[in-house]
Amino acid sequence: MRIDRTFIMLKPDAIQRGLAGEILSRFEKRGMKIVAMKLIRVTEELAEVHYAEHVGKKFYAKLLSYITSGPVIVAVIEGLDAVQQVRKMAGSTLPTEADVGTIRADYGQELPMNVIHASDSTSTAAREIEIYFKPEELIDYELDLKDWVLSFQHLKD
Ligand SMILES: Nc1ncnc2c1ncn2[C@@H]1O[C@H](COP(=O)(O)OP(=O)(O)OP(=O)(O)O)[C@@H](O)[C@H]1O
Ligand SMILES: [Mg+2]
Repeated sequence: MRIDRTFIMLKPDAIQRGLAGEILSRFEKRGMKIVAMKLIRVTEELAEVHYAEHVGKKFYAKLLSYITSGPVIVAVIEGLDAVQQVRKMAGSTLPTEADVGTIRADYGQELPMNVIHASDSTSTAAREIEIYFKPEELIDYELDLKDWVLSFQHLKD
């Protein structure tokens, strides 16, 4: 377990349905740190870079029209094992198969509209952070609540 960074996107359905604050608050309430965040539009070209592994697949056209259909919020989240933990909080791809309590199960029904994207590995996270953010957009600051959720820096064994 270690502190790492992951990339998330609140997809167009999350923004249009007014769920952005609620979803972001889940990460805040867990004591995770928002390192970067912005509202953007995903162009066809950007979608092709981000979802390169899916270009040419049967569902790609649907995914493309969904992801370019309205603005999205992209963010970088830091925390203990953040890549794996945030992916778990997002839940399985298919909302009807995701565990209740995960974001996709709690807010979604049918693909491609599953509310959130989260990086699936540390190497994917690094790649996606680089696609969406310039280095200077990652903000260096101390989160005051950290000592109430992370013990190793200040509590004695
Ligand atoms: N069979 C499908 N039909 C329609 N849309 C799909 C289908 N499979 C995947 N998608 C859409 O494409 C996205 C990317 O698919 P992927 O297999 O990478 O799932 P994921 O890793 O859980 O999702 P994401 O990469 O967005 O975090 C899905 O989140 C969903 O929005
Ligand atoms: Mg994926």
